Amino acid sequence: MNREEQNKTLEAWQNSARYWEKYRVLIAQMFAPLTTSLVEEARIGVGDKVLDIGGGSGEPSLTIADIVGPTGSVTFTDPVAGMVETALAEAGRRALTNIQFKQCSADDLPFADSTFDVAVGRLSAMFFADPLTALREVLRVVRNGGYVSFVVWGPEESNPFFSAVNDAVDRFVPSPPEDPDAPDAFRFAVPGKLAGLLENAGADNVVEHRLNFQIEAAMSFEQFWQLRTEMSESLRKAMASLTSAELAAVKQAADDAAEPYFTGGQMSFAAQALVVTGRKPGASRSDV
Ligand SMILES: C[S@@+](CC[C@H](N)C(=O)[O-])C[C@H]1O[C@@H](n2cnc3c(N)ncnc32)[C@H](O)[C@@H]1O
Repeated sequence: MNREEQNKTLEAWQNSARYWEKYRVLIAQMFAPLTTSLVEEARIGVGDKVLDIGGGSGEPSLTIADIVGPTGSVTFTDPVAGMVETALAEAGRRALTNIQFKQCSADDLPFADSTFDVAVGRLSAMFFADPLTALREVLRVVRNGGYVSFVVWGPEESNPFFSAVNDAVDRFVPSPPEDPDAPDAFRFAVPGKLAGLLENAGADNVVEHRLNFQIEAAMSFEQFWQLRTEMSESLRKAMASLTSAELAAVKQAADDAAEPYFTGGQMSFAAQALVVTGRKPGASRSDV
């Protein structure tokens, strides 16, 4: 990705930051199973020094700060100022003292070699400007034997949380053919793609787990529609390009597609993610 494309990606995230702040509590709730899985796969425990890459409005950093406790620490990173501000403000409200913040991109981490015990990224690796360089950077700043673990979306067809709206929009707003390597939520949906990159970056013991889970929250279709069409830059743009008649038709099509996932004010979407984990080569402290 060239510098101009990279800036466009970051600008889109900066535009999204206020909506990620608006929906921060729901985001934490809806994607909590992903955090649980990262914590398990990366074996995060009390006293660990953890790096979070692309932490957005604060997760998984805020949850992990509680898990590692006062003898551990979390370093939240994100290249987007608006995301850092949001997460920082929430850490302040929670009076967390074991969390630091750094505005930086995954491919240029301002940390010394072997600074962290563990590194994680929740739903961020798909947006890295240069994933291979980023993964090498992440391995550089983790200690020997330390775990690195990333969770990314599985295929769109297994994630109706996205496809219910996206498919309806696609019928009205023609989208250009997609570059499978461009930053996108489903860039690493093909099994083995991120795992292969992590191996190429130099990680040992790379494993990939498919995680089937439910995206759940107390929410009506109307609230879901608002959340989806506000949080995503591409949907905000698509909505702005539609006539009011087209907008009504898209919304109705999305409502029809999403109907099976809403009952009695409760949303529950079947969802699929991939959790990719590896270790930095070399003896770990517990091995020596
Ligand atoms: C889908 S959000 C996920 C945020 C958060 N981890 C969560 O799960 O709620 C993707 C995040 O990746 C960040 N991001 C984009 N490009 C990045 C890069 N080159 N390095 C690190 N993070 C990046 C975005 O700013 C955004 O906060």
